[in-house]
Amino acid sequence: MADRPILVTGGAGFIGSNLVDALLARGYSVRVLDNLSTGKRANLPDDERVELAVGDVADAACVRRAMSGCQAVVHLAAVASVQASVEDPIGTHQSNLIGTLNVCEAMRAEGVTRVLFASSAAVYGNNGEGEAIDESTPTAPLTPYAADKLASEHYLDFYRRQHGLEPAIFRFFNIYGPRQDPASPYSGVISIFTGRAQKGMPISVFGDGEQTRDFIYVGDLVEVLVQALEAPVVEQGVVNVGLNQATSLKQLLAAIGDVLGGLPAVSYQAPRSGDIRHSRANNARLLQRYRLPEPPTSMRAGLAKLLGR
Ligand code: NAD
Ligand code: UD1
Repeated sequence: MADRPILVTGGAGFIGSNLVDALLARGYSVRVLDNLSTGKRANLPDDERVELAVGDVADAACVRRAMSGCQAVVHLAAVASVQASVEDPIGTHQSNLIGTLNVCEAMRAEGVTRVLFASSAAVYGNNGEGEAIDESTPTAPLTPYAADKLASEHYLDFYRRQHGLEPAIFRFFNIYGPRQDPASPYSGVISIFTGRAQKGMPISVFGDGEQTRDFIYVGDLVEVLVQALEAPVVEQGVVNVGLNQATSLKQLLAAIGDVLGGLPAVSYQAPRSGDIRHSRANNARLLQRYRLPEPPTSMRAGLAKLLGR
């Protein structure tokens, strides 16, 4: 059993490739299913225990082949950009919802039960109103991305009740760290700001910069994911993954300026449509079920690691 691979969909991407490293370090072998749309082959180590299947989660046959012989799945493949889903709801839906259904069906067919799923804080919409959001907060998806994540959660729960799948569903808040692509305008804000700051290129803030996010370092997240894979049973109920710390974009820029010793020009543009104002996790359930590093990686330490300082 132990030598059967873990399937990581989206494993050539930012979070996925960091997880692959953590799994290899613990002695697992890994099969990655990725269409390399934003992921890169170069994100994966040259290790005989890693197999890359280039393919699309929207292609049911391809997912079934990738699932065959695996012991568990971490389903990360998705178009991670909220903005991309606003611009192309139908295209992103193929990856973000049909992909999840294909994973569920392939698991059922291949007799695989444990699946970790990357849902998102985006499902809460603006219901946080600046307070820490716990998992009982009503959902209010504002974008196709959020709607697909929420629907994916519901499908996973259906497969749990109907077919005995063991889904561990995580609502990630804002993850940052090495290999988040700084080149794409659709990438996470920390990778864009740090990438541009390092090159002295001007930075655009969408909105007034007072919007807040709960940023968590990718190394801390993957520790939690590995524990969830290894847990004897999965307790029901979604789990927020954040640090219960709100950082505004202005505070983020100041922290980057501190680490780098200065910042390029910053301009303020119109806010993005569907953008959430404040997002902060109540992470009590996370801390009850899993162990975060003690202390968790601070913003300052995470930025220093990311920037090689
Ligand atoms: P990423 O873009 O680096 O990773 C996504 C990976 O999925 C990429 O390797 C991409 O090539 C692959 N992919 C996309 N569509 C695919 C498809 N149809 N078939 C096969 N592979 C496909 O982004 P990430 O930040 O690493 O995100 C990973 C997961 O975590 C996503 O599901 C995302 O929605 C979720 N998430 C991310 C954050 C965050 O802050 N980064 C927060 C909440 C949830
Ligand atoms: C991010 C994730 C999404 C996840 C969600 C969970 C990415 C690309 N998005 O979305 O997958 O589900 O967290 O909370 O990883 N901004 C600027 N300038 C820029 C880029 C962004 O001002 O150049 C602003 C945005 O308008 C937004 C904030 O920064 O207000 C964060 O944006 P982004 O990193 O794209 O994250 P989310 O939209 O929160």
